[in-house]
Amino acid sequence: MNKARIIRLMVLVCWVVLFSCSVKYNDTIDQKVENLLEEMTLEEKVGQMAQITLDVIGKGDDRYNSYEPFLIDTAMLRKAIVAYHVGSILNTTNNYALSPDKWNEIIGFIQQVAMEESRLKIPVVYGIDAIHGVTYTDGATIFPQQITLAATFNPVHAYNMARVAAYETRASGIPWNFSPVLDLGADPRFSRQFEGFGEDPYLIGMMGEQMMLGYEGITDSISSPYKVATCVKHFLGYSVPASGKDRTPAYIPENMLREYHLEPFKKAIAAGTESVMINSGIINGVSSHASYELITKILKEELGFEGVVVSDWMDIINLHTRDKIAIDNKEAVKLAVNAGIDMSMIPYEYEQFCKDLIALVKEGEVKESRVDDAVRRILKMKMKLGLWENPVTKIEDYPEFASEKSSQEAYDAAAEAITLLKNENQILPLSKSASVLVTGPNANSMRVLNGGWSYSWRVEKTDRYAQQYNTILEAIQHEIGEVNVQYVPGVSYVETGNYYEDKEDRFEEAIRQAKKVDVVILCLGENSYSEKPGDLNDLTLSRNQLNLAKEITKAGKPVILVLNEGRPRCIREIEPSMAAVVQIYFPGNYGGDALADILFGDVNPSGKLPYTYPSYPNSLVTYYHKSAEEQKRAEGAYIYESDYNPQYEFGYGLSYTNFEYSNLRISSKTITGNKTVEIFVDITNSGSRSGKEVVILYTSDLYASITPDVKRLRRFTKIELDPGQKKTVKFELNARDLAFVTPDGKWLTEPGDFEIKTGSLKQVIKYE
Ligand code: BGC
Repeated sequence: MNKARIIRLMVLVCWVVLFSCSVKYNDTIDQKVENLLEEMTLEEKVGQMAQITLDVIGKGDDRYNSYEPFLIDTAMLRKAIVAYHVGSILNTTNNYALSPDKWNEIIGFIQQVAMEESRLKIPVVYGIDAIHGVTYTDGATIFPQQITLAATFNPVHAYNMARVAAYETRASGIPWNFSPVLDLGADPRFSRQFEGFGEDPYLIGMMGEQMMLGYEGITDSISSPYKVATCVKHFLGYSVPASGKDRTPAYIPENMLREYHLEPFKKAIAAGTESVMINSGIINGVSSHASYELITKILKEELGFEGVVVSDWMDIINLHTRDKIAIDNKEAVKLAVNAGIDMSMIPYEYEQFCKDLIALVKEGEVKESRVDDAVRRILKMKMKLGLWENPVTKIEDYPEFASEKSSQEAYDAAAEAITLLKNENQILPLSKSASVLVTGPNANSMRVLNGGWSYSWRVEKTDRYAQQYNTILEAIQHEIGEVNVQYVPGVSYVETGNYYEDKEDRFEEAIRQAKKVDVVILCLGENSYSEKPGDLNDLTLSRNQLNLAKEITKAGKPVILVLNEGRPRCIREIEPSMAAVVQIYFPGNYGGDALADILFGDVNPSGKLPYTYPSYPNSLVTYYHKSAEEQKRAEGAYIYESDYNPQYEFGYGLSYTNFEYSNLRISSKTITGNKTVEIFVDITNSGSRSGKEVVILYTSDLYASITPDVKRLRRFTKIELDPGQKKTVKFELNARDLAFVTPDGKWLTEPGDFEIKTGSLKQVIKYE
């Protein structure tokens, strides 16, 4: 037998062994779940479906706020866990990060009560939003936000972040993570755009899949003490409300819901996510939490999802208080549980949830079999996580917590994401002997580098926790020495209640200083925010910041605009007078260092925009729009401001070197049946520096029965080339890649011509 056959045989044997082990493993888990379920009273089952927030069991004046430092109120804990059988707890307390030891102590005590004092000794499953590293553990490795990872166009970074976050979440005693966000970032007004992977469904799916694998494991399973159960969110269509504001109604036709929003979730479910969180909003007038169609029909039946469906924060009671489709809490519980919700993130008035659900079952309004189905899913996740064997962890068993390797990976992700959007006369990279003024509200704060969900939900405590990392100013000072760096804020952020504004801060001095230096590094953008506090009335960059930019350019020195923002704020008024523009998104704790390395040439930028950067707040069109969006201004015609006019296109990003695309070739001019065609293109680094290039393959359906998108991203890869080096990139496509969803919700590839495009090269291929 030759070597290749022996290897194939060995792989087959391993596969059979693994498969039969996993069948047995799952059989035993299923059996154990059934045995446990049989012993449970209705009250115990309902309790498993209840999730409360940590403050509810903390010492404090009421259940909404606990004292600092956090202490468990044992009476409240016993009431929840022993009397009401509550199955899950989430979140941090009072909005601040805890040390791993404190987490272990809190969760250790919760588990002790659950496993020693409750009748059936079922462990609690603790859940958290560790969405870009372990956001609520002091000292953990904080990565860039997902939007920043998307800009790398390199899924390895998504995998690395999730692998490290899984390890460090478990090190904090927590086994369940409400991540990744797979929402379609198609509307830049939406306050949570930075939590996702941008506007393209394929990119979201590829990054999301790697994040899933990083969290749950490629070869090992979530019973590993280094892995966590994921929770993909927010199913479905959360990110495109008509008003652009969080948790307001969206109107999405079924074909769009399926073609653009559903695909990334499908991938994550196929990759085995353990749980799914439901969209907090309303689609086509139907609250998602009450949608049987969405939760049971599509998610559970059509996609075959067997894991836990968890509500979002207060979203069952919201059916009554906000959406007015339930006359009281009881009716809200009935609608949501019957729609298919398995666990309610209540998170405060759990007694009411439990009482109402018990009554509903007794009255026959909710079938006990529905409750059994929910509890089966929850117990199964708990068993797969190995919570009976390892209810809590010890930080001593996690020597790699916040390791240098993890910090390096967080830095690498930021460095590969930062996107160079303009570089007039090759002003960048700057000389390290240049004298610079660093100015703007984002120049000297760790909070702005991290964005929402960093040490605290609204991030107002980030600067306290992240002192040891470098702000942009500090990183530039380290890079070129303090003597050459002047700092005047010009504009600063001020807190106003739950929101923030900006105000002038030594404005005139900033302008005066600009005259005295070689270059101005102007750091503008947004302060950080989470969810509703991030709602916006105007996507344009703030007036104070625009004024600072306008006035500072009058000093006559080149201005490098650094954009540090969770969504693209319109900069049309100032962009033409900037010598260079660099987008850093929310790059995390190492973002300042990565930026300094790019500005001064230690790193060659290679990020690309994962969304369309709009010029105007009234022209918010994704790159995959219809050609009717591109009706050009025509002289004498009644078309005035109708042309497609983004500030920067999706996928745009410059390098300090040049890449030339040549020799696009396709293995066959036609695609038929299930056949795959191969597409090759040569990329040459024709500049004088090594660099990385994202090669993107688009297709355009030239004519179709419903108006086709002008183009769609179908494949991408990232390659590295030395000066003068050439590489051939190969992509494969099949008929399914050319399909769209018809108005009645079916995938269809129509015969006809399709353009294949990469760089500025194009070829036509026929589907027969
Ligand atoms: C958010 C979710 C989050 C949950 C728990 C909600 O307000 O929408 O994304 O997982 O809170 O913190």
